[in-house]
Amino acid sequence: MLNELEKIKKEFLDSVEAIKDSKALEELRIKFLGRKSALTSVLRSLGKLVQEERILVGQKANTLRKEIEERLEQIKNSLYKKGASKISTDYTLPGFPLSLGREHPITKTIQEIIDIFSPLGFQVATGPEIETDYYNFEALNFPPDHPARDEQDSFQIDGGKYLLRTQTSPVQIRVMEKTKPPIRIIAPGACYRRDNPDASHSPMFHQVEGLAVDTDIHFTDLKGVLSEFIHQMFGKEIRMRFVPSFFPFTEPSAEVAISCIICGGKGCPTCGKSGWLEVLGAGMVHPNVFKYVNYDPKKYTGFAFGMGVERIAMLKYGIHDIRLFYQNNLQFLNQF
Ligand code: PHE
Repeated sequence: MLNELEKIKKEFLDSVEAIKDSKALEELRIKFLGRKSALTSVLRSLGKLVQEERILVGQKANTLRKEIEERLEQIKNSLYKKGASKISTDYTLPGFPLSLGREHPITKTIQEIIDIFSPLGFQVATGPEIETDYYNFEALNFPPDHPARDEQDSFQIDGGKYLLRTQTSPVQIRVMEKTKPPIRIIAPGACYRRDNPDASHSPMFHQVEGLAVDTDIHFTDLKGVLSEFIHQMFGKEIRMRFVPSFFPFTEPSAEVAISCIICGGKGCPTCGKSGWLEVLGAGMVHPNVFKYVNYDPKKYTGFAFGMGVERIAMLKYGIHDIRLFYQNNLQFLNQF
Protein backbone atom coordinates (compact mmCIF):
# COMPACT_ATOMS: atom_id res chain seq x y z
CA MET A 1 0.00 0.00 0.00
CA LEU A 2 2.77 2.38 0.91
CA ASN A 3 4.44 1.58 -2.39
CA GLU A 4 1.21 2.30 -4.13
CA LEU A 5 1.12 5.77 -2.51
CA GLU A 6 4.73 6.44 -3.59
CA LYS A 7 3.80 5.51 -7.13
CA ILE A 8 0.81 7.84 -7.12
CA LYS A 9 2.93 10.68 -5.80
CA LYS A 10 5.61 10.19 -8.43
CA GLU A 11 3.08 9.95 -11.23
CA PHE A 12 1.39 13.11 -10.01
CA LEU A 13 4.64 15.06 -9.81
CA ASP A 14 5.58 13.90 -13.31
CA SER A 15 2.35 14.95 -14.91
CA VAL A 16 1.82 18.18 -12.98
CA GLU A 17 4.67 19.98 -14.74
CA ALA A 18 2.97 19.64 -18.10
CA ILE A 19 -0.18 21.51 -17.07
CA LYS A 20 -0.71 24.49 -19.40
CA ASP A 21 -4.38 25.36 -19.04
CA SER A 22 -7.31 24.96 -16.73
CA LYS A 23 -8.83 22.14 -18.75
CA ALA A 24 -5.73 19.98 -18.27
CA LEU A 25 -5.71 21.00 -14.63
CA GLU A 26 -9.26 19.79 -14.14
CA GLU A 27 -8.46 16.51 -15.86
CA LEU A 28 -5.53 16.04 -13.56
CA ARG A 29 -7.66 16.79 -10.53
CA ILE A 30 -10.19 14.13 -11.54
CA LYS A 31 -7.43 11.66 -12.26
CA PHE A 32 -5.73 12.05 -8.88
CA LEU A 33 -8.50 13.10 -6.53
CA GLY A 34 -11.66 11.91 -8.26
CA ARG A 35 -13.92 9.05 -7.14
CA LYS A 36 -12.18 6.58 -9.41
CA SER A 37 -8.65 7.68 -8.62
CA ALA A 38 -6.01 5.34 -7.25
CA LEU A 39 -5.73 7.48 -4.14
CA THR A 40 -9.45 7.27 -3.44
CA SER A 41 -9.36 3.50 -3.74
CA VAL A 42 -6.45 3.34 -1.29
CA LEU A 43 -8.45 5.41 1.16
CA ARG A 44 -11.50 3.18 0.62
CA SER A 45 -9.59 0.02 1.27
CA LEU A 46 -8.18 1.20 4.58
CA GLY A 47 -10.90 -0.72 6.41
CA LYS A 48 -9.51 -3.99 5.25
CA LEU A 49 -6.13 -3.39 6.87
CA VAL A 50 -5.02 -4.30 10.35
CA GLN A 51 -5.04 -1.47 12.80
CA GLU A 52 -1.36 -0.45 12.81
CA GLU A 53 -1.14 -0.54 9.05
CA ARG A 54 -4.41 1.30 8.75
CA ILE A 55 -3.14 4.22 10.86
CA LEU A 56 0.15 4.45 8.96
CA VAL A 57 -1.31 4.17 5.47
CA GLY A 58 -4.22 6.40 6.41
CA GLN A 59 -1.92 9.21 7.55
CA LYS A 60 0.29 8.94 4.46
CA ALA A 61 -2.69 8.82 2.11
CA ASN A 62 -4.29 11.89 3.69
CA THR A 63 -1.04 13.82 3.61
CA LEU A 64 -0.63 12.99 -0.06
CA ARG A 65 -4.18 14.05 -0.73
CA LYS A 66 -3.48 17.40 0.91
CA GLU A 67 -0.23 17.87 -1.02
CA ILE A 68 -1.99 17.19 -4.30
CA GLU A 69 -4.79 19.60 -3.43
CA GLU A 70 -2.39 22.38 -2.49
CA ARG A 71 -0.27 21.93 -5.58
CA LEU A 72 -3.34 21.99 -7.82
CA GLU A 73 -4.50 25.18 -6.08
CA GLN A 74 -1.10 26.80 -6.70
CA ILE A 75 -1.22 25.91 -10.37
CA LYS A 76 -4.74 27.23 -10.61
CA ASN A 77 -3.63 30.59 -9.17
CA SER A 78 -0.64 30.93 -11.43
CA LEU A 79 -2.73 30.04 -14.49
CA TYR A 80 -5.21 32.73 -13.43
CA LYS A 81 -2.46 35.32 -13.08
CA LYS A 82 -0.98 34.47 -16.47
CA GLY A 83 -4.42 34.70 -18.03
CA ALA A 84 -5.06 38.05 -16.43
CA SER A 85 -1.81 39.50 -17.70
CA LYS A 86 -2.76 38.35 -21.16
CA ILE A 87 -5.69 40.81 -21.22
CA SER A 88 -3.56 43.55 -22.63
CA THR A 89 -4.45 47.22 -22.62
CA ASP A 90 -5.74 48.71 -25.85
CA TYR A 91 -4.13 52.11 -25.85
CA THR A 92 -6.02 53.15 -28.94
CA LEU A 93 -9.39 53.19 -27.14
CA PRO A 94 -10.70 56.70 -26.48
CA GLY A 95 -10.30 57.85 -22.85
CA PHE A 96 -13.13 58.44 -20.43
CA PRO A 97 -14.49 61.92 -21.06
CA LEU A 98 -13.87 64.15 -18.05
CA SER A 99 -16.21 67.09 -18.02
CA LEU A 100 -14.55 70.33 -17.09
CA GLY A 101 -15.68 71.93 -13.84
CA ARG A 102 -16.62 75.55 -13.69
CA GLU A 103 -17.29 78.23 -11.13
CA HIS A 104 -20.66 78.28 -9.44
CA PRO A 105 -22.69 81.31 -10.60
CA ILE A 106 -22.55 82.72 -7.06
CA THR A 107 -18.75 82.41 -6.93
CA LYS A 108 -18.60 83.96 -10.38
CA THR A 109 -20.82 86.87 -9.38
CA ILE A 110 -18.77 87.49 -6.22
CA GLN A 111 -15.66 87.57 -8.40
CA GLU A 112 -17.29 90.04 -10.80
CA ILE A 113 -18.17 92.27 -7.85
CA ILE A 114 -14.59 92.06 -6.53
CA ASP A 115 -13.25 92.88 -10.00
CA ILE A 116 -15.29 96.06 -10.07
CA PHE A 117 -14.37 97.26 -6.58
CA SER A 118 -10.67 96.30 -6.60
CA PRO A 119 -9.59 99.00 -9.05
CA LEU A 120 -11.49 101.51 -6.89
CA GLY A 121 -9.14 100.65 -4.03
CA PHE A 122 -11.29 98.18 -2.08
CA GLN A 123 -9.54 95.17 -0.57
CA VAL A 124 -11.26 91.88 0.17
CA ALA A 125 -11.82 91.12 3.86
CA THR A 126 -13.49 88.11 5.44
CA GLY A 127 -14.92 87.15 8.80
CA PRO A 128 -16.36 84.09 10.54
CA GLU A 129 -19.82 82.76 9.67
CA ILE A 130 -20.37 81.81 13.31
CA GLU A 131 -20.55 85.10 15.13
CA THR A 132 -21.28 86.49 18.55
CA ASP A 133 -24.23 88.72 19.26
CA TYR A 134 -21.72 91.51 19.85
CA TYR A 135 -20.36 91.56 16.30
CA ASN A 136 -23.57 90.65 14.51
CA PHE A 137 -25.79 93.12 16.39
CA GLU A 138 -24.54 95.03 19.40
CA ALA A 139 -21.48 96.75 17.94
CA LEU A 140 -23.58 97.52 14.87
CA ASN A 141 -25.80 99.62 17.08
CA PHE A 142 -28.66 97.13 17.43
CA PRO A 143 -29.68 97.53 21.09
CA PRO A 144 -30.74 94.23 22.77
CA ASP A 145 -34.50 94.61 22.26
CA HIS A 146 -34.46 96.64 19.09
CA PRO A 147 -37.15 95.55 16.61
CA ALA A 148 -34.61 95.70 13.77
CA ARG A 149 -33.27 92.40 15.12
CA ASP A 150 -36.59 90.74 14.31
CA GLU A 151 -36.07 91.28 10.61
CA GLN A 152 -32.99 89.10 10.81
CA ASP A 153 -34.36 85.96 12.46
CA SER A 154 -31.18 84.18 13.35
CA PHE A 155 -29.99 80.64 13.94
CA GLN A 156 -28.80 80.58 17.55
CA ILE A 157 -25.99 78.29 18.66
CA ASP A 158 -25.25 77.18 22.22
CA GLY A 159 -28.37 78.80 23.62
CA GLY A 160 -27.60 82.17 22.08
CA LYS A 161 -23.90 82.29 22.90
CA TYR A 162 -23.19 82.30 19.18
CA LEU A 163 -25.28 82.69 16.05
CA LEU A 164 -24.87 82.18 12.32
CA ARG A 165 -24.25 85.68 11.05
CA THR A 166 -27.34 87.20 9.49
CA GLN A 167 -25.36 89.71 7.47
CA THR A 168 -21.76 90.44 6.44
CA SER A 169 -21.79 93.72 8.39
CA PRO A 170 -19.93 92.22 11.41
CA VAL A 171 -16.85 92.17 9.18
CA GLN A 172 -16.97 95.99 9.31
CA ILE A 173 -16.45 95.84 13.09
CA ARG A 174 -13.77 93.18 12.92
CA VAL A 175 -11.78 95.15 10.35
CA MET A 176 -12.12 98.47 12.18
CA GLU A 177 -11.06 96.90 15.48
CA LYS A 178 -7.80 95.80 13.90
CA THR A 179 -7.05 98.69 11.52
CA LYS A 180 -6.88 102.44 11.61
CA PRO A 181 -8.42 104.52 8.80
CA PRO A 182 -8.20 104.94 5.89
CA ILE A 183 -10.23 101.79 5.24
CA ARG A 184 -11.68 100.53 2.01
CA ILE A 185 -12.88 96.95 2.10
CA ILE A 186 -15.44 94.66 0.58
CA ALA A 187 -16.42 91.51 2.44
CA PRO A 188 -18.09 88.69 0.52
CA GLY A 189 -19.51 85.66 2.27
CA ALA A 190 -22.39 83.46 3.35
CA CYS A 191 -25.13 84.64 5.71
CA TYR A 192 -27.99 82.78 7.38
CA ARG A 193 -31.52 83.67 8.36
CA ARG A 194 -34.45 81.58 9.52
CA ASP A 195 -36.43 82.11 6.34
CA ASN A 196 -38.47 79.36 4.76
CA PRO A 197 -37.16 78.66 1.27
CA ASP A 198 -39.26 80.00 -1.57
CA ALA A 199 -38.51 81.57 -4.95
CA SER A 200 -36.85 84.58 -3.34
CA HIS A 201 -35.77 83.33 0.12
CA SER A 202 -33.16 80.89 1.26
CA PRO A 203 -31.95 80.20 4.82
CA MET A 204 -28.40 80.49 3.46
CA PHE A 205 -27.43 83.19 1.02
CA HIS A 206 -24.51 85.48 0.22
CA GLN A 207 -23.79 89.13 0.71
CA VAL A 208 -21.02 91.50 -0.22
CA GLU A 209 -20.41 94.21 2.33
CA GLY A 210 -18.58 97.44 1.55
CA LEU A 211 -16.97 99.89 3.94
CA ALA A 212 -14.93 103.05 3.43
CA VAL A 213 -13.72 105.16 6.36
CA ASP A 214 -11.49 108.21 6.19
CA THR A 215 -11.30 111.80 7.34
CA ASP A 216 -13.27 113.18 4.46
CA ILE A 217 -15.87 110.72 3.23
CA HIS A 218 -19.22 112.08 2.07
CA PHE A 219 -22.52 110.74 0.85
CA THR A 220 -21.47 111.78 -2.65
CA ASP A 221 -18.56 109.32 -2.44
CA LEU A 222 -21.05 106.57 -1.66
CA LYS A 223 -23.18 107.58 -4.63
CA GLY A 224 -20.17 107.80 -6.92
CA VAL A 225 -18.83 104.39 -5.95
CA LEU A 226 -22.21 102.68 -6.18
CA SER A 227 -23.12 104.23 -9.50
CA GLU A 228 -19.80 103.06 -10.91
CA PHE A 229 -20.56 99.58 -9.61
CA ILE A 230 -24.07 99.46 -11.00
CA HIS A 231 -23.07 100.74 -14.42
CA GLN A 232 -20.28 98.21 -14.70
CA MET A 233 -22.45 95.38 -13.42
CA PHE A 234 -25.70 96.06 -15.28
CA GLY A 235 -24.83 98.50 -18.07
CA LYS A 236 -24.36 102.22 -18.66
CA GLU A 237 -28.00 102.85 -19.48
CA ILE A 238 -29.20 101.70 -16.05
CA ARG A 239 -30.41 104.47 -13.71
CA MET A 240 -30.05 104.40 -9.96
CA ARG A 241 -32.07 105.93 -7.15
CA PHE A 242 -31.67 106.21 -3.39
CA VAL A 243 -34.77 105.76 -1.25
CA PRO A 244 -34.57 106.76 2.43
CA SER A 245 -34.45 103.73 4.68
CA PHE A 246 -33.32 102.57 8.10
CA PHE A 247 -30.39 100.50 9.32
CA PRO A 248 -29.18 100.87 12.92
CA PHE A 249 -25.54 101.14 11.85
CA THR A 250 -25.91 103.80 9.15
CA GLU A 251 -27.35 107.30 9.30
CA PRO A 252 -28.68 108.44 6.95
CA SER A 253 -29.59 105.10 5.38
CA ALA A 254 -30.88 104.27 1.95
CA GLU A 255 -32.22 101.46 -0.16
CA VAL A 256 -30.62 101.64 -3.56
CA ALA A 257 -32.73 100.68 -6.54
CA ILE A 258 -31.91 100.41 -10.22
CA SER A 259 -34.19 100.99 -13.18
CA CYS A 260 -35.70 97.63 -14.13
CA ILE A 261 -33.33 95.79 -16.39
CA ILE A 262 -36.20 93.84 -17.94
CA CYS A 263 -38.55 96.66 -18.94
CA GLY A 264 -36.15 99.60 -18.78
CA GLY A 265 -38.30 101.27 -16.12
CA LYS A 266 -41.71 101.17 -17.82
CA GLY A 267 -43.12 98.66 -15.33
CA CYS A 268 -43.37 94.88 -15.71
CA PRO A 269 -44.04 91.80 -13.53
CA THR A 270 -40.35 91.55 -12.52
CA CYS A 271 -40.31 95.05 -10.98
CA GLY A 272 -43.87 94.80 -9.68
CA LYS A 273 -44.89 97.43 -12.24
CA SER A 274 -42.84 100.05 -10.34
CA GLY A 275 -40.03 100.27 -12.87
CA TRP A 276 -37.45 99.91 -10.05
CA LEU A 277 -35.58 97.00 -8.51
CA GLU A 278 -34.05 97.26 -5.05
CA VAL A 279 -30.51 95.95 -5.11
CA LEU A 280 -28.74 97.04 -1.95
CA GLY A 281 -28.77 98.80 1.38
CA ALA A 282 -26.35 101.60 2.17
CA GLY A 283 -25.66 104.65 4.27
CA MET A 284 -23.15 106.72 6.21
CA VAL A 285 -21.56 104.88 9.13
CA HIS A 286 -23.41 105.74 12.36
CA PRO A 287 -21.23 107.58 14.90
CA ASN A 288 -22.21 105.01 17.56
CA VAL A 289 -20.51 102.28 15.49
CA PHE A 290 -17.30 104.30 15.49
CA LYS A 291 -17.50 104.53 19.26
CA TYR A 292 -17.59 100.73 19.55
CA VAL A 293 -14.30 100.47 17.66
CA ASN A 294 -12.67 103.48 19.30
CA TYR A 295 -12.68 105.70 16.25
CA ASP A 296 -13.27 109.39 16.89
CA PRO A 297 -16.61 110.17 15.19
CA LYS A 298 -15.64 113.83 15.00
CA LYS A 299 -12.55 113.00 13.02
CA TYR A 300 -13.74 110.18 10.79
CA THR A 301 -16.69 109.59 8.51
CA GLY A 302 -17.49 106.63 6.35
CA PHE A 303 -20.00 104.89 4.16
CA ALA A 304 -21.15 101.28 4.11
CA PHE A 305 -23.23 99.20 1.76
CA GLY A 306 -24.42 95.63 1.58
CA MET A 307 -25.85 93.66 -1.31
CA GLY A 308 -27.30 90.19 -1.76
CA VAL A 309 -25.18 88.26 -4.24
CA GLU A 310 -28.05 85.96 -5.23
CA ARG A 311 -30.24 88.97 -5.98
CA ILE A 312 -27.55 90.54 -8.17
CA ALA A 313 -26.98 87.24 -10.01
CA MET A 314 -30.71 86.66 -10.45
CA LEU A 315 -31.19 90.08 -11.99
CA LYS A 316 -28.11 89.88 -14.13
CA TYR A 317 -28.80 86.41 -15.52
CA GLY A 318 -32.60 86.45 -15.43
CA ILE A 319 -33.00 83.68 -12.83
CA HIS A 320 -36.45 83.50 -11.29
CA ASP A 321 -35.94 81.11 -8.39
CA ILE A 322 -33.16 81.47 -5.79
CA ARG A 323 -33.38 77.74 -4.99
CA LEU A 324 -31.82 76.90 -8.36
CA PHE A 325 -28.46 78.04 -6.98
CA TYR A 326 -28.36 75.27 -4.41
CA GLN A 327 -29.79 72.27 -6.22
CA ASN A 328 -26.61 71.24 -8.02
CA ASN A 329 -28.52 70.69 -11.22
CA LEU A 330 -25.85 70.55 -13.93
CA GLN A 331 -28.29 71.66 -16.62
CA PHE A 332 -28.65 74.90 -14.68
CA LEU A 333 -25.01 75.27 -13.59
CA ASN A 334 -23.52 74.54 -17.01
CA GLN A 335 -25.09 77.69 -18.40
CA PHE A 336 -22.66 79.93 -16.57
N1 PHE B 1 -26.50 94.44 6.47
C1 PHE B 1 -27.65 95.03 5.87
C2 PHE B 1 -28.68 93.93 5.62
O1 PHE B 1 -28.33 92.79 5.60
C3 PHE B 1 -27.30 95.74 4.58
C4 PHE B 1 -26.47 96.95 4.78
C5 PHE B 1 -25.10 96.89 4.82
C6 PHE B 1 -27.07 98.21 4.93
C7 PHE B 1 -24.33 98.02 5.00
C8 PHE B 1 -26.33 99.33 5.11
C9 PHE B 1 -24.96 99.24 5.14
O2 PHE B 1 -29.85 94.20 5.47
